[in-house]
This record gives sequence, structure tokens and C-alpha cells, in this order.
Amino acid sequence: MPESDLAATRRQFLGFLAASPALALAGTGTGLVQRLLAATTDGASHAQQADLVASATEALSVFDFQAVARQVLPTAHYAYLATSVDDDRMLEVNREGFRQFQLRMRRLVDVRTIDTSVDIFGSRWETPIVIQPTGSNGAFHPDAELAVARAAKAKGHLQMLSTVASTPIEEVIAARGGPIWFQLYAATDWTLTEAMVRRAEAAGAAAVVLTVDLQAGSNRLTALRGIRADDRDCALCHDPDQPRAMHTHLDPSSFVTGGRPPRTGPSRPVGMTWDYVTRLKNATSMKVLVKGIVTGEDASLSEAYGADGIVVSNHGARAGATDRSTIEALPEIVEAVGGRMPIIIDSGFRRGTDIFKALALGATAVGIGRPYLWGLASFGQAGVAAVLGLLRRELEMVMRQAGATSVARIMPSHILRRG
Ligand SMILES: Cc1cc2nc3c(=O)[nH]c(=O)nc-3n(C[C@H](O)[C@H](O)[C@H](O)COP(=O)(O)O)c2cc1C
Repeated sequence: MPESDLAATRRQFLGFLAASPALALAGTGTGLVQRLLAATTDGASHAQQADLVASATEALSVFDFQAVARQVLPTAHYAYLATSVDDDRMLEVNREGFRQFQLRMRRLVDVRTIDTSVDIFGSRWETPIVIQPTGSNGAFHPDAELAVARAAKAKGHLQMLSTVASTPIEEVIAARGGPIWFQLYAATDWTLTEAMVRRAEAAGAAAVVLTVDLQAGSNRLTALRGIRADDRDCALCHDPDQPRAMHTHLDPSSFVTGGRPPRTGPSRPVGMTWDYVTRLKNATSMKVLVKGIVTGEDASLSEAYGADGIVVSNHGARAGATDRSTIEALPEIVEAVGGRMPIIIDSGFRRGTDIFKALALGATAVGIGRPYLWGLASFGQAGVAAVLGLLRRELEMVMRQAGATSVARIMPSHILRRG
């Protein structure tokens, strides 16, 4: 499309946005929120964010979707998506972590054919890019987790579904057309936890991913400020009787009886210890993974207590202000695990080079959270699919540049720690 046509399309889109009910929903707090959320711009240079893209196919990087999501989402919802903890600096910490590693490219390899597929627990996935569990996708698009599942299906990605999703697990598995992994926020009451696990297993989930990094709570100030700055009547959308409501007031037991997913937040068992992993393992035939591991010691304990795999994660900078990125934690974890179980890593992955670095350091696969939510908020299923496509294309490009024609050929010798 000629540049003048592109500009016209963009103007049209901005006009549409200005008249959009979605923007009206964002309320009069928009200016305030732009300032409030400016600090959460998460990594792209301003030069690269100058224009809003008008369609999913126009995007050049995942950050193009972040800019649209910020425009179209209601204030409180964008703040929920964007928030980190304390001053939000952990977002930068996760991004800066990648700069601690340099790539060593190899030349004159025939790279006409690239194979990005990976094996996890005997299943082959087209790419090592995994959709991480995120709560309440209905806050971002009416099609919520169904749009994500359809995009995952179209692009052959592994998808994890949150305990606090907006959509029942059976519907998501039907839309994905194959097994997904169920992320578990354990309830204080074991019977309830067990019932959630049984339901996920009966629905066809292949693995349960126990999240362990929110036991101490987290200080998400941007999320709280976003709620304050949003002048809409939240009760209108959060009414549990509405289809795909944000269900923040639902009783967790509704999950057990086959209803919508629960909100287990307030009843998370703060006394949970390593025995819980074994208990969970004994309660299910699904694979068990522990999500939120950031040290070699805890990786070893996960294995010792019966986990089949781990997810290296700081909850996308939402768990605590540790000043340590997950990519920097990865080497000690890879060493502790010694190749005996799969390691999936997330938090701050935005570029093909980020993914390549994790694979070179020994991760099995790499998860993303916010990028696909930016795509979802911007253009629904097409946005999620475009985000997945962009990241895969970027990864393939780096693999070619590095002379690594398959994931197995991405070597420790491709990466060097600065200094
Ligand atoms: C809006 C949002 C909701 C999330 N909800 C959950 C959740 O319900 N369960 C969970 O284990 N992790 C949750 N996470 C964390 C993600 O699974 C993942 O660890 C994180 O988003 C990866 O970092 P990234 O967003 O920088 O890619 C959430 C993250 C975001 C941004």
C-alpha cells in the first residue's frame, strides 16, 4: 500500500477511535492515565511508537499493539494489564536483563530451511513460543480466551489457561482443538483445589501449572491508581450475572459445580510449602509444573518434590521488586536442572532475540503474557495471531543470522555474558 494510503487509513482509524464506545468507556480520565501509565511503556523507543497501527497486519513489532491497547482499553483495565509493582521499575529490569547477554553469530551455514519446533513431554509444538496464563481476558476483548485459543490453534502454540480466566476451560479447549495446560491458584481448602484439578483433567488439560510467586501478595500501585482514575461504574461490568462478566465477586466453588472460573485470590494458602507439590502430583495424572521459580535451589526442590517441569517467572514483573530479571536467573536454574526436566521461562520477552537468548542459555521454551494481551485488546484473534506471527518471524530471522537451523542447534556457544 502506498505511504499516502497508509496515512489515510491511519487517520480513518484515529477518527474511528475518537468516536469509539471503547474510548468513551475509558472515560474522562484518559489524559491523566496517559501520564499515569507513561512509565509503563515497557521498552520500545518513542521513534518506534509514533503512529497507531490501523490493522493487525500493519504492525511491525509487538509494541505497536501496546500503543493501540493503551488507547482502546478502559483506564482500569489497561492499568491491570500494565501494572508492575512499587514504581514499576521491574518492567525495565526484565528488559535490561537481556542486554547483559550478547549473541555470537555464525556465518556461511545453509539457512534456507529453519525448524522452530520443540518437544515438551513428548508433544511436538511448532514453535517454542508459549501463551502464558493471564486472568480475566474478558477485560481486554469480548472474545477473551476464545480468541486467544483460536489464534494458538491457527499458529500451533501451546497455551496455558489461568484459574481466573473469563471463559470456562471446556470452551477454551474446544476452541483450541487440543489440550491446553491449566494454571492453578490453589485454594486454602484442599477439597476445592482438588476439585478444580479434577475438572481441568476431565476437560482434557495435559498439565497443571502451580503458581507459587504470589503467596506474599504484590504491591501493584499502577493497577490501584488506574481504578481510581477510571470514572465508570465498575459494577455494570462486574455483575456476575452478565455473560463473561469480570466475575471478581464469584465464589470459587462455582468452578467446582461447572460454572465460570473462580476468583481464588483472597483465599490463596499462604502456608503452602514444598509438600504441596507432592500432594498435587499424587492427586492427578497430569504433568505438574511449578511456576514462579527464580533460583537454582528452588528448581532443585521442585524436582525433589515431584514436579515434572518448571516455569521460570517473576509473574511479568508483578510478583516483587527484586531487581533481578528472569533471564539473569536462568543460568543457575539450567545448571541445577541439568537437562532432567523442561524449563519454560517468561517475563519481559518482546523480541526474537530475547527468545533466542533464553534458548541458547538452555530454556526449553519461552512464554509471553502482555504481548498477546496487547494484540487481543487491539484486534481480537487477529491481533493475537499477529503477535505470535511477528515473534516467530523474528526468532526465525535470528536463527538464520546465527546459523542455527533448528532449536536443537541453538548452542551455549551462541551466547556470552557481558564482562
Ligand atoms: C494481566 C495479567 C494477568 C496475569 N494473570 C496471571 C494468572 O492468572 N496466573 C498466573 O500464573 N500468571 C498470571 N500472569 C503472569 C503471566 O502468566 C506471565 O508470567 C507474565 O505475563 C509474563 O511476563 P510478560 O507479561 O512480561 O510477558 C498475568 C500477567 C498479566 C500481565
